[in-house]
Amino acid sequence: MSDPSSPAPAPLRVRIAILGAGNRGVGAYGAYLLRRPDLAQLVAIADPRTDRLHAAGELHGVSPERRYLSWEELLKRETELDAIIIATPDVMHLQPALAGIRHGVSILLEKPICPTEPEVRRLLATARRRGADITVAHVLRYTQFFTRIRELLNRGVIGQLQTVRHTEQVGYWHFAHSYVRGNWRRAEESSPMILAKACHDFDILQWLIGSPCVELNSYGNLGHFTSANAPEGSTERCDQGCAVERTCPYSAQRIYLEKLPPADRWPHNVVSLDTSPEGLALALHSGPYGRCVYHCDNDVADHQVVSMRFANGVDACMTVSGFTREITRTIHLMGSHGEIIGDFTRNEITVTDFRVDDVRTSQLSVHSEGLHGGGDEGLMADFIGRVQDRLRGGDPARASTSLEESVESHFMAFAAETSRLRGMAVRLHAARKKRSQIAPGSETSTIVEASG
Ligand SMILES: NC(=O)c1ccc[n+]([C@@H]2O[C@H](COP(=O)([O-])OP(=O)(O)OC[C@H]3O[C@@H](n4cnc5c(N)ncnc54)[C@H](O)[C@@H]3O)[C@@H](O)[C@H]2O)c1
Repeated sequence: MSDPSSPAPAPLRVRIAILGAGNRGVGAYGAYLLRRPDLAQLVAIADPRTDRLHAAGELHGVSPERRYLSWEELLKRETELDAIIIATPDVMHLQPALAGIRHGVSILLEKPICPTEPEVRRLLATARRRGADITVAHVLRYTQFFTRIRELLNRGVIGQLQTVRHTEQVGYWHFAHSYVRGNWRRAEESSPMILAKACHDFDILQWLIGSPCVELNSYGNLGHFTSANAPEGSTERCDQGCAVERTCPYSAQRIYLEKLPPADRWPHNVVSLDTSPEGLALALHSGPYGRCVYHCDNDVADHQVVSMRFANGVDACMTVSGFTREITRTIHLMGSHGEIIGDFTRNEITVTDFRVDDVRTSQLSVHSEGLHGGGDEGLMADFIGRVQDRLRGGDPARASTSLEESVESHFMAFAAETSRLRGMAVRLHAARKKRSQIAPGSETSTIVEASG
């Protein structure tokens, strides 16, 4: 018990640098830092896009000499940091994370950890060897919605869990924005869609099920957003006199200028920093977000299903689809004497107890701050709190989304992509055994093996 006469620990402001001043770095984490100046201060920032760099620098009062054009330069010059947030593009996670480990700072690493399995293994091996403090941005674990479902399962409210159906509804315009026109459209340049979009879902499934996945099977492809499906009369860009522009659900003009009223936030601020209707129209005229969805250079799957078997006997299936109106995740957990049905965006959970035929729906309170159902907020609060503990000389518990805990979801995603591409079931148990024996330098062998 703490001594009531001893003074409370002095408030300690964590000195943070953000690497990558984009949608996540500034839009999500920077926004939290602005709301909680008592906990942390953004002292340095890096981004090669000078418009973003200086806009963020001004907003946070970062002095011009501490604004850098690359993460490399920032980490070379900044020696007095407590923590870094890595929010660079997917393919640029490994090197800054390794550099952060060498600097001995706490790291908040955006998902995906890295886009390939050998890179994830290399980071894991180095982090283990150096005892690094890395938290992965698996924000769903910090939401009230999934925390409540886990509590219900752990209390045995539906008996023994048998099977789970999980659907990630990406939303048709969101899919077009990110995976057809945007940054995640090509696997080579970012990640396979199942990793980029669904590593969160693999993570949450194994967290809820409470057991590792032992085998999975996956199907999916790029079924719609190809030139073969381009309507008669469509043009390369939506504003070039396309004959079907007024009725096409993916029309850039309709999405960014009509359906979603222009505002200074995602997705508009990804299209253009000038989010006035004129600024957006200009960006749509020449930038990537004005391209016809049937004439892009995208190659990632637009839908994928994965069926999974877990070590405790629970079976689950997940569908990820770009063809939905709502942007949400829905989950149905079926147990021996009850079921839980949840809708993430509505923040609604219905629990049925078969023994007494009782059906209860609870509407959880809606978070007003940040995105991801309060997950961004919860993640940052947890991360900064643990850095403060560490700086005070304490030994904070490992984050719920530590690197060690988070790699499992990525190995599931890599296995799902292998299964989809090779048309075979993939076993993960051998991989797990190998992982526990990871030694530096042995990071390149494959984790998956074909099943029977
Ligand atoms: N946790 C989540 O739910 C979630 C959601 C969306 C995106 N993400 C991930 O977050 C990361 C960032 O995504 P985003 O949407 O913010 O993308 P973004 O493109 O808006 O931001 C990335 C920024 O990194 C900058 N950058 C490029 N090279 C750099 C370098 N050498 N040094 C410093 N900065 C550099 C880019 O100029 C860009 O501004 C990605 O890995 C993405 O997959 C996670």
